[in-house]
Amino acid sequence: MARPVTTFVCRSCGATHSKWSGQCDACGEWNTIENSVSLDKSRAGRATGFRAVDLKKLSDEDVEASRTLTGVSELDRVFGGGIVRASAILLGGDPGIGKSTLLLQAAARLAESGTNTVYVSGEEAAAQIRMRARRLGLASAPVRIAVDTSLRDVVAMLGQELPDVVIIDSIQTMWLEGIDASPGSIGQVRASTHELVHFAKSTGTTVILVGHVTKDGQIAGPRAIEHMVDTVLYFEGDRGHHFRILRAVKNRFGPADEIGVFEMTGKGLEEVANPSALFLSNRESVTPGSAVFAGIEGSRPLLVEIQALVANSPLGSPRRTVVGWDGGRLAMILAVLDARAGMSFAGKDVYLNVAGGLRITDPAADLAVAGALASANEGIAIAGSAALFGEVSLSGALRPVAQVDPRLREAQKLGFDTVYAPSQKKIRTDSGLVIREVLELGEFVNEILAARPSMSRLPDAQSGD
Ligand code: TYD
Ligand code: MG
Repeated sequence: MARPVTTFVCRSCGATHSKWSGQCDACGEWNTIENSVSLDKSRAGRATGFRAVDLKKLSDEDVEASRTLTGVSELDRVFGGGIVRASAILLGGDPGIGKSTLLLQAAARLAESGTNTVYVSGEEAAAQIRMRARRLGLASAPVRIAVDTSLRDVVAMLGQELPDVVIIDSIQTMWLEGIDASPGSIGQVRASTHELVHFAKSTGTTVILVGHVTKDGQIAGPRAIEHMVDTVLYFEGDRGHHFRILRAVKNRFGPADEIGVFEMTGKGLEEVANPSALFLSNRESVTPGSAVFAGIEGSRPLLVEIQALVANSPLGSPRRTVVGWDGGRLAMILAVLDARAGMSFAGKDVYLNVAGGLRITDPAADLAVAGALASANEGIAIAGSAALFGEVSLSGALRPVAQVDPRLREAQKLGFDTVYAPSQKKIRTDSGLVIREVLELGEFVNEILAARPSMSRLPDAQSGD
């Protein structure tokens, strides 16, 4: 069996050395040499042997990647149309967010449709997994489970079984003997992933790895292996809310940034076909500080409420707290409101929240955020039947955004009658909506705050489908 070899690698230039030294003689950098353990003994020091490398034509035909639908439609959407044979997938997320639940549901559907599926758990006992399966109503699904943490043993078992799909829950619990690092450490996680990715590519099995994210968002492991896998999905959401967003951050076989929306219920994760209705369903009344953003996440339109609160601050440097959006972007919008619309937030605490626990990445949220902030600051509500989108530039001008049509369609479907949007070419005026084209932030603030009257009406968010 291969014994571990310790080599020393320069972090800066990647040169390998047989012993540690303070300065790398390859690039001259100081303190960049780290030790690195590798298993591959047999090759070390054998620089002379080589294998012929095939050259192929770019124009050669390949067989289409073969895909299998998991049967969980929101998951299949995020994969870009099902899982790809021989691919390696990483599902990351906070502990307790629902990774094991989602994958057990997917495993059960796959197994029921005849896909040979193995679920390997290093975290839970078989009885716990069975109990979860019963709770999910999946107790009779033909999924096979293994409870083990020794990756060598697991890979040996998989090599005999050759399943179509294997789920490893979680990669941080797996350890590879011969690696001089503790389970869960970067070294172990990388080596285990390497082994499993190699297994996927050489056998055609699809490998799905679960990776826990640590509290502060600094992932112990998952971030370090993102580059080794084909697809990286993160499961997001606030544990206080029941919505869960599955987001593809990398996908070699489909669009990145696609999202799937789920709701955590007593019977596991349910797919949400109409997320806008869900995200707006808790809006009770129209209050100052609330604005509805007509956004796009991935390929899907999503209406979501942005809430702002502005309060006098007792602090020398007032608080800026933001949940679900980018803090730097909030600072920028506050500065633009001050400089271009004459609205000062000095001496005031500002809180911004995206309702429902969603995290927005669409740059078109600027206008809705500015609207919510202005409305909160002045204590005047924005009409409840209005939705907003648009990117704000430092000059206070509104910039055109992508995918206008789906935003308008979604707003109309959910019963909104007015949309504030940047002036841009492709805007459809036949949508039945009143489109208020916004050129510049100062003028927009005056307009929405003046439109005080008939703001008590809320569109019936449940009517969309
Ligand atoms: P889990 O899938 O174990 O999370 P992870 O694998 O990401 O750590 O999800 C655990 C949470 O989900 C737990 O707090 C209980 C809740 N849950 C439900 O609300 N309904 C269910 O049907 C199941 C199985 C779990
Ligand atoms: Mg789990």
